[in-house]
Amino acid sequence: MGPEDLHRILAGLNLSFDEPRLIVGATDDAGVYAIDDDTWLVQTVDFFTPIVDDAYSYGQVAAANSLSDVFAMGARPITAMALAAFPIEDLPTSILHDIMQGGLDKVREAGAVLLGGHTIDDPIPKYGLSVTGVVPAHQIWTKEGAKPGDQLYLTKPIGTGILAKATKDGLIDAEVEQSMVAWMAQLNQGAARAARAVPEIRSVTDITGFGLLGHGLEMATASGVRLVIDAGRVPIHPTTFAHAKAGEVPGGSWDNMRHVAPELDVVETMTDGEIVVYADGVTSGGLLISCPRERSAELEAQFAAEDVQFWQIGEVMAEGGHRLTLTGRSEQS
Ligand code: CO
Ligand code: CO
Repeated sequence: MGPEDLHRILAGLNLSFDEPRLIVGATDDAGVYAIDDDTWLVQTVDFFTPIVDDAYSYGQVAAANSLSDVFAMGARPITAMALAAFPIEDLPTSILHDIMQGGLDKVREAGAVLLGGHTIDDPIPKYGLSVTGVVPAHQIWTKEGAKPGDQLYLTKPIGTGILAKATKDGLIDAEVEQSMVAWMAQLNQGAARAARAVPEIRSVTDITGFGLLGHGLEMATASGVRLVIDAGRVPIHPTTFAHAKAGEVPGGSWDNMRHVAPELDVVETMTDGEIVVYADGVTSGGLLISCPRERSAELEAQFAAEDVQFWQIGEVMAEGGHRLTLTGRSEQS
């Protein structure tokens, strides 16, 4: 669901607790709880309906997506529980087996263990993980802490919402789909490790359902700054703009765009059909990292050492006017 829906549902719910061990509640990528003076617990849960045909790939992507919020908080995942819904009567159980194998392989790759899970009979398949991680006390990354002058880095291309719709409608190029699935199945572990090696980095989030602009706005608002994103530098999966121009844009991506619109300043003449690509909901996207300018060479060296692809997509400026600026021209349009 979109940010607007979520805000409406949460409005009026008292999410504050009289509990000093509660460090981060329902405001960031994952919740954080101090188990003692040295160690903080990071917990998150995520699941969704299939976005690719191949069962094993779907399990990998769903698990990589679930694990991502733990990496985005700077934590190390330790345990996972699987959540699955599956039409037991209508589909061969080997499909669910393959989904679970994909998820399990990603849990293992992340260095965590699977403790169990729960499956229900349901007409529409769903799969994902609840993940628990640990981080040394006071070392989490949040959406706060981006400072004017910081450089913004992104570690995966966007466009998966539009391409997933094209996949469902049978319009996607097989090669593009394959590369998109490989990106979505990739863990944010290496990117997080690279950023971890630069202690001055405090503000990180992952790009998922609210899109680059939606999550960027969250970071800008939480940090009290303005993000200036250079459209031409943002990595976008091939053919995304073509599908967007043909009207293949999920409703949720338009919702994201409406949500950021009051805070979005678009410098060059871009059509709504181009801007929406930057608001497109992402599945298992990369990390958005705000890095102090004097540390950016160090971060880039760490990315290279981890063999992680990265794009420097913009910078952080002092607040004033809009919270988000999309500048430049998208080269793909
Ligand atoms: Co997140
Ligand atoms: Co999440």
